[in-house]
Amino acid sequence: MERRRILCAVSGGIAAYKTPELVRGLVRSGFDVRCAITASAARFVAPLALETVSGHRVRADLFDRAEEGEIDHIALADWAELVVVAPATANLLARMAIGMADDLVTTLLLATRAPLLVAPAMNVNMWRHPATRGNVEVLGRRGVRFIGPESGALACGWEGEGRMAEPARIVAEVTLALGPRTLAGERVVVTAGGTREPVDPVRSLTNRSSGKMGFAIAAEAARRGAEVVLVAGPSALPTPPGIRRIDVQTALEMRDAVLGEWPSARIVVMAAAVADFRPADRALQKIKKEDLPEGAAPSIALVRNPDILAEISALPRDGRVVVGFAAESHDVLDSARRKLERKGCDLIVANDISREQGGFDSDRNAVAFVWPGGPVEELALLPKTEVAAQLWDRIEKRLGALPRDAGAEPSAGASR
Ligand code: CTP
Repeated sequence: MERRRILCAVSGGIAAYKTPELVRGLVRSGFDVRCAITASAARFVAPLALETVSGHRVRADLFDRAEEGEIDHIALADWAELVVVAPATANLLARMAIGMADDLVTTLLLATRAPLLVAPAMNVNMWRHPATRGNVEVLGRRGVRFIGPESGALACGWEGEGRMAEPARIVAEVTLALGPRTLAGERVVVTAGGTREPVDPVRSLTNRSSGKMGFAIAAEAARRGAEVVLVAGPSALPTPPGIRRIDVQTALEMRDAVLGEWPSARIVVMAAAVADFRPADRALQKIKKEDLPEGAAPSIALVRNPDILAEISALPRDGRVVVGFAAESHDVLDSARRKLERKGCDLIVANDISREQGGFDSDRNAVAFVWPGGPVEELALLPKTEVAAQLWDRIEKRLGALPRDAGAEPSAGASR
């Protein structure tokens, strides 16, 4: 497949030392990256480093005949499908805002018709200066997208807003901006992570789940252009770009969030590890040992939580697709088949949690897609991002076979 083409424009700030990492991340994500740098950028980052990671000669001079002979600046501006400016200094933002073309980078930025994604980096006072604020506003009105700056310790010694967004975050934004748009117009709900059922203000019962699989599924859907709502149990994972996240704690809160989103969703993927039981009573104050007889432990009565997947699968489907997960420790495929039948969803993604590799905290997973009527597709141990892509490929195929009439309130009486 032909690689998507990114032009990375680099200006002269200390954050330029992170640009080779950014370029490397982009190349690893499958992009074809070429770099153009300003004269001052070359003082902060070695062109050879960018050349090595991008695999292309770095452009620095508008008037270098050898460089221009290889690909002239207008051809380079046309070549790019997206331009990332990282870091963008206050000076470069000012030159962009007034449309200057006084060096190679600004000339490229003026000549290109590709979307611009700009990652500013500068001293906090320069960022807050009314002149910079005005330039950012002008550029924003022109459709330039900004990523960051982030807050933290700055190289100049100040604390505050001004750090360039982390390369991984920029890669995620680029991926999102240039993803295949096969799910454009679709509304997707993904659940992720485990729920937490409180016993008292300190203690809780939880299900083991890192949330990585669900987050990867949500990120991939957004990358393909879907409007994604991620209903997440407690998780420290960052929200993938372009996603609306609803944080929940308990199974009951997750149920409310999913049912609230259901009417306007077309696809629901339940990757969360929902706790099946919750304490019947939640103590409002911490349960103290001194209130118990010496050496005694309290017993906690449990009640069943609703089965969210079964509940939504029983609703009129109206062209929707509902996908469940099955985390099994033994008898994996048969258990998953029974679960599919019992819950009534369209597809179960089964994984064997007894395997040493993959599963819970891992970045990889070995799953099987279990379809109604028995067919099973077993995948190898793959990165969770790849499992997510494979899952969306299947869902898209299935959507293609369904009428595109979901998205409105399901009418009573409609059948699956
Ligand atoms: N699920 C749910 N609500 C629950 C329990 C599970 O919606 N109360 C969903 C999960 O999100 C997952 C699927 O049902 O998509 C299967 O979850 P799993 O924990 O494997 O199965 P259980 O229904 O809990 O069955 P068991 O624990 O008996 O294997």
